[in-house]
Amino acid sequence: MKRQRYQIKFPPTKPHQLEQDQSFFYLYENDQEITLRFHDYAELYKRPGLYEQLFYQRLRCRSPQKVVEILSKVLKENGVEMAELRVLDLGAGNGMVGELLQVARVIGVDIIEEAYLACERDRPGVYDAYYVADMSNLDASIEEELKDWQIDCLTCVAALGFGDIPVSAFMTAFNFVEVGGWIAFNIKETFLQESDETGFSRLTKYLLMSDTLEVHHLERYRHRISIDGRPLFYYALVGKKMSHISPKVMHDFESAT
Ligand SMILES: C[S@@+](CC[C@H](N)C(=O)[O-])C[C@H]1O[C@@H](n2cnc3c(N)ncnc32)[C@H](O)[C@@H]1O
Repeated sequence: MKRQRYQIKFPPTKPHQLEQDQSFFYLYENDQEITLRFHDYAELYKRPGLYEQLFYQRLRCRSPQKVVEILSKVLKENGVEMAELRVLDLGAGNGMVGELLQVARVIGVDIIEEAYLACERDRPGVYDAYYVADMSNLDASIEEELKDWQIDCLTCVAALGFGDIPVSAFMTAFNFVEVGGWIAFNIKETFLQESDETGFSRLTKYLLMSDTLEVHHLERYRHRISIDGRPLFYYALVGKKMSHISPKVMHDFESAT
């Protein structure tokens, strides 16, 4: 099927003038100029192919492939059959990550309904179940259903920090994974700098330093380019879950953010 092409233009900003979550672009539609922020996901997902055109073609994002590739390599090294995994894909969006996972079950969770609708429209059948829910504030019924899936792997790609998935949501998702399961996610490179004291930076450092996660692969790579053509570097991290995040640690992180 031929994908619809959109007419999009970037504003004349200079490098470093806009934070990643402040970036915006102009969309020309029905003789109108619409300004959309990169994080206006609902508006992006409503238009078939716009998310892919913006992030994957124009800005050359390759994080879903990168994170899934590393997960697959680590599993192979550990003699684990990827095909047997039951994956929770947090911040599933329109299914870019789910589509790459050749696993036994893949369960998507996203906070906005437009993500689910776009996934059903563009990648039907990718997820065994897809919950429209805020992972940091789950209904008891969804919590029970998620437990029933017996998750042993968490993926979370291009979704942490910058006003996207909060620390509490990631910790909750982490704790759905059984001990001995696998965790695969990516983070902006500054999250590993000492000077970064944001919630995600502190949580990532905690995961790296505590016995909660056994790190198997940490790699710096180009996540995508910015609207000025500069490379934006991220770390992809894949590890084995060694224990749950304790209620006390969760509480400490939640009260600090
Ligand atoms: C940049 S998109 C990434 C989508 C997909 N993982 C990909 O790589 O293309 C981030 C997604 O996280 C979702 N999100 C943000 N906060 C969330 C929360 N608290 N719980 C679940 N999903 C959330 C957003 O709705 C959005 O679809």
